[in-house]
Amino acid sequence: MKALVLSGGSGTRLRPLSYSMPKQLVPVGNVPVLFHCLDNLRDADITDVGIVVGDRGDDIRRAVGDGSAHGLRVTYIQQEAPLGLAHCVQISEPFLGREDFVMYLGDNVLVGGVAAHAERFRADCPDAQLLVAKVADPAEYGIAVLGADGSVERLVEKPSEPVGDTALIGVYFFTKEVHTAVRSIEPSARGELEITDAIEWLRRNGRQVRAEIFDGYWKDTGRIEDMLDCNRVLLGSLTPSQAGSVDAHSELIGSGPIVIEPGARIERSRIVGPVTIGAGTVVQDSTVGPCVSIGRNGLLEHAEVEDSIVMDGAAIRGVRGIHGSLIGRNTEVSQAPRFSHRHRLVVGDHSRIEAAA
Ligand code: G1P
Repeated sequence: MKALVLSGGSGTRLRPLSYSMPKQLVPVGNVPVLFHCLDNLRDADITDVGIVVGDRGDDIRRAVGDGSAHGLRVTYIQQEAPLGLAHCVQISEPFLGREDFVMYLGDNVLVGGVAAHAERFRADCPDAQLLVAKVADPAEYGIAVLGADGSVERLVEKPSEPVGDTALIGVYFFTKEVHTAVRSIEPSARGELEITDAIEWLRRNGRQVRAEIFDGYWKDTGRIEDMLDCNRVLLGSLTPSQAGSVDAHSELIGSGPIVIEPGARIERSRIVGPVTIGAGTVVQDSTVGPCVSIGRNGLLEHAEVEDSIVMDGAAIRGVRGIHGSLIGRNTEVSQAPRFSHRHRLVVGDHSRIEAAA
């Protein structure tokens, strides 16, 4: 079985971060979103992986390379425009050939992996096997209407009228039959070839389509709040380690794991797990955590950060009470000069700032 990982898309809901990096490379639990997917594939014994990339393809190529670091063999497939998930399958036919494959959306995180689902697909070979889960906001997803026996009765992409709350969660197993389906459908109202419509086509044409409930933690990391939620969950499952230095005036406390990477330095600070501090980062006179991941080569001085993702090279000086925040690479957050009661902001388009009065 091969894999097709979709890593294009414009990431409009993740602006401004998605202006400078593909959303699939935002770190959650200290690891880019996409790497969680690649590791799940390897754990399911799937090593031949095609990654569909869009206009941020070069960043993905740089981060993943030939895939050997993940135990994979990666082929890149360029999508010229974001024309839909079924369009990704169309352009990937030369890579996929006639083989069975799993299509995995590179911005979806599934904790616990897909190995058991891959096993069942290998054993029974239905033409489509979909992973589904209940969601609170069905209008945002592809919805599978299931019968009392769990059979798939209908599939609807982003329904405007309520049809159910069991969503397709971004992992689909297919046989070669899907190639006929993706050529047989028309673009949706949003102008895309929807994979949901292709699967509905399979079902209407008598092919076997089945849904399996995914009962682990799952998140489509489309929005900042989703990234933070995912970060919380993944940080909680890390293996604690302390390769960097922690001075005698600091304390490591809290109920979750703490990872201090090599070359990181913690001085006169409180680290409240779960927390990861990236290699080469210096933390002085600060409180970090719970639920914080700090990237590499950052600096925190007299800072207080909770429930946040701080990326590589960011510096936070003299600012307390930072929470629920996503701070991009090489960003500077600092206190205004003494006696100033005004704010000075140099922020990119579509940024979001919530200043305390
Ligand atoms: C896509 C699919 C949708 C699916 C979702 C899962 O939505 O079109 O059917 O439920 O991924 O994350 P999109 O991310 O394009 O809004």
